[in-house]
Amino acid sequence: MATSVLILNGPNLNRLGTREPDIYGTATLSDLVELCTREALALGLIADVRQSNDEAELIGWLHEAADAVTPVIINPAAFTHYSYALRDACALVEAPLIEVHLSNPAAREEFRQTSVIAGVADGVIAGFGIESYRLALQAISRLISA
Ligand code: DQA
Repeated sequence: MATSVLILNGPNLNRLGTREPDIYGTATLSDLVELCTREALALGLIADVRQSNDEAELIGWLHEAADAVTPVIINPAAFTHYSYALRDACALVEAPLIEVHLSNPAAREEFRQTSVIAGVADGVIAGFGIESYRLALQAISRLISA
């Protein structure tokens, strides 16, 4: 059976397409879902893409992934920069976990240059718009077959 990959998106990412398009691009959340679904299929994986503006809901989904040993790709959005609760939930996931960003936070405001999640991720992919997710799926595929 194909492995599922949980692809989590944090606050405000439901506004993709119209939210600061000069920074985040014009692709919508449904474009992102389509890209992930197609790329996952090509890699023999199943993409389970979810978005929430609620930290507790994201934490609940990470607990699900921890229990089911499901690989995770997560764009924690603004929670990246300060949510120790989300970091602790990411640390519970034993399967590969990759942090992704559409923009390159390292090249933006100072508060975005800190990720409290990166230290518990297997790696970080940032700055390629929705292509960051394609690259992350490819990385997950390699990590789980290594
Ligand atoms: C983001 C970068 C974060 O700093 C920001 O708060 C987001 C999106 C990105 O994908 O570039 O909401 O995670």
